[in-house]
Amino acid sequence: MDVKIVAVLGSPHGMKGATGALLNRLTQSAVAAGADVKTFNLAEMTVKPCHACDACHRTGQCSITDDFATLKSALLAADGIVLASPNYISSVSAQMKAVLDRCCGPLHCQSMAGKYGVAVVTSGGGESEEVERYILRFLQNMGCWTVGSVGAEARHLADAGARAERLNAAASLGAQLVATIRARKTFPEQENMHRAFYDRMKMLVTLRKKEWTYEHEYWKSLGRL
Ligand SMILES: Cc1cc2nc3c(=O)[nH]c(=O)nc-3n(C[C@H](O)[C@H](O)[C@H](O)COP(=O)(O)O)c2cc1C
Repeated sequence: MDVKIVAVLGSPHGMKGATGALLNRLTQSAVAAGADVKTFNLAEMTVKPCHACDACHRTGQCSITDDFATLKSALLAADGIVLASPNYISSVSAQMKAVLDRCCGPLHCQSMAGKYGVAVVTSGGGESEEVERYILRFLQNMGCWTVGSVGAEARHLADAGARAERLNAAASLGAQLVATIRARKTFPEQENMHRAFYDRMKMLVTLRKKEWTYEHEYWKSLGRL
């Protein structure tokens, strides 16, 4: 089976930064396991912040013309999604947040449900885990199965032994992501979260059916309503 993975890197340092190094090891390992991996480096792209016009909900199209349309198509076609960001004030970078916010249409439509996701985070002083959890929660809300996450702090990356250990953890996660996709594994412990968010979106789209015509039609066309 052809496994398609899309990675999104949210550091302004691109592949030269700490997050890029960790992500690179993960994607190399996924490629070695036979996956087709495409990395989107947000430092080289323009993805503007959402301006809350609701066009995606009404028409299915974002009103902002920039590189998000290409990224969204790639994400929708992927089996696996890797979201990589530095810790910026206990959250993701602004570049990554713009991508998450622009996914509001697919979130309402649950159109990425059933894909597999992982998170990659680096931080200066710590708290990578908090940001890993934030990214994993986003992926779960999108309906994706989350396979795991990997984080590293500056002190790990400055020490040869700890750096090698973190890079190995990234490589393992890359291989695990590909194996999980191939096996079409499901995670029973995530099912309740998926169901609760799906039901919430169903209620929202039903409630706003007069304004959010595209999303209501989308749900109806799939026989979900
Ligand atoms: C605006 C900004 C905010 C940051 N906030 C935090 C933070 O809250 N906690 C932390 O541990 N590191 C913080 N850092 C440090 C980065 O997370 C860390 O250097 C990261 O590894 C950078 O990754 P990169 O080389 O891929 O860009 C911050 C850095 C910047 C530029």
